[in-house]
Amino acid sequence: MDRRNNPYAPGAGLQPPELAGRDKLIETATIDMERALAGRPTKGMMLLGLRGVGKTVLLNRLLGIASAQGFQTAKIEAPEGGTLPELLAPELRRILYALDLRTSAGHKLRQAVTVLRSFAAAFKVTVGELEFGIEPAAGLADTGRLQQDLPDLLIAVAEAAAERKVAVGLFIDEVQYLSPDELAAVVVACHQIAQRNLPLLFVGAGLPQIAALAGNAKSYAERLFNYPQVDQLPPEAARAALVRPAEGEGAAFEDAAVGAILTATEGYPYFIQEWGSQVWDAAPGTPIRLEDVVDATPGVIAHLDANFFRVRFDRLTALQQKYLRAMAELGPGPKKTGEIATALGVEAATVATVRQQLIDKGMVWSQRHGETAFTVPMFDAFMRRQMPILEKHVPRQRRTKGDRAI
Ligand SMILES: Nc1ncnc2c1ncn2[C@@H]1O[C@H](COP(=O)(O)OP(=O)(O)OP(=O)(O)O)[C@@H](O)[C@H]1O
Ligand SMILES: [Mg+2]
Repeated sequence: MDRRNNPYAPGAGLQPPELAGRDKLIETATIDMERALAGRPTKGMMLLGLRGVGKTVLLNRLLGIASAQGFQTAKIEAPEGGTLPELLAPELRRILYALDLRTSAGHKLRQAVTVLRSFAAAFKVTVGELEFGIEPAAGLADTGRLQQDLPDLLIAVAEAAAERKVAVGLFIDEVQYLSPDELAAVVVACHQIAQRNLPLLFVGAGLPQIAALAGNAKSYAERLFNYPQVDQLPPEAARAALVRPAEGEGAAFEDAAVGAILTATEGYPYFIQEWGSQVWDAAPGTPIRLEDVVDATPGVIAHLDANFFRVRFDRLTALQQKYLRAMAELGPGPKKTGEIATALGVEAATVATVRQQLIDKGMVWSQRHGETAFTVPMFDAFMRRQMPILEKHVPRQRRTKGDRAI
């Protein structure tokens, strides 16, 4: 069918034509925002989910709702490798300037600007011109210790917002890539803000391991945030995600064609967009038939392998790849860490470091102690396609005394 009218949006963070199955979560979050605006105590939230389930599009949708409700918003995506101050400071500066446009600078606003200046100096980040706020911020956000300075800064910004009777929305995507110190600083800041009942709402998103990471950073993180799970779509929502965009273009699917796509995608939103898009391009006309899906499917899988899966695979060392291949041998779902080691032919302790590296890279996570699971849906099948043969791991022997290098 005509590619010009193809309604699907496969990609990262691309707003889907039909944001299916998330109404409840959006409604709950909207009420939280109304509470925050009304100055009532409100927990922040961390959206948890695997790769491609739609965390970023949800975060963006919530950001849009917050802006429409009158929040001043800051949004950043945590990169791998610790630069939170650098990313956050300019966003907070933007908020402070937006607050000033409302009326001439009040006391709290001037204070927040000076705190931001101290923070920027302490962390050697550039935030651009800071015209107002001349008084030095005595002893605030200037220690160079993030867990102390970030709370100071966010409190100052939230107080400035409160002075203007608005609220701040702080949105952070890919939270798992924050360093432990950065995550702890965010948690401490949210905790102190909650205690002061200031109007700042935190919304984070990331891989499921962030619940444990936040809990490790500060044990009270468990009670500080809600952790809504963003999962694969249940059948009705998955059907809507596939069928409605086509209907909007005057096209339809045969039931069997829908069934085949829902089975192949297991309701994972990114896969639905990818299948929908490629089947649309390949089908000769409407209604889209089962045979169109069957014909297009090998091409979709090849495309996913070459792009979605492959970019992740290529970032791994040979041993990390081998570890994932051993996991894949055991099928989808969480696996016992000991069984993975057995599949590799070694003791769990021998590959504990590799497993930790894979967690740090966001490739696997552990829901329960002693378990390991993929963070990328259907990665097991990809690994079996990519590395058809499972090789045992033979650790290099440490030389004992008396051994001679050959
Ligand atoms: N509720 C939904 N209904 C239909 N399509 C969706 C839905 N949510 C997301 N998508 C589609 O799924 C794809 C992935 O979305 P998104 O990038 O938000 O996922 P993610 O969870 O942030 O992934 P990652 O962990 O890789 O960042 C996009 O193509 C998006 O259009
Ligand atoms: Mg994302």
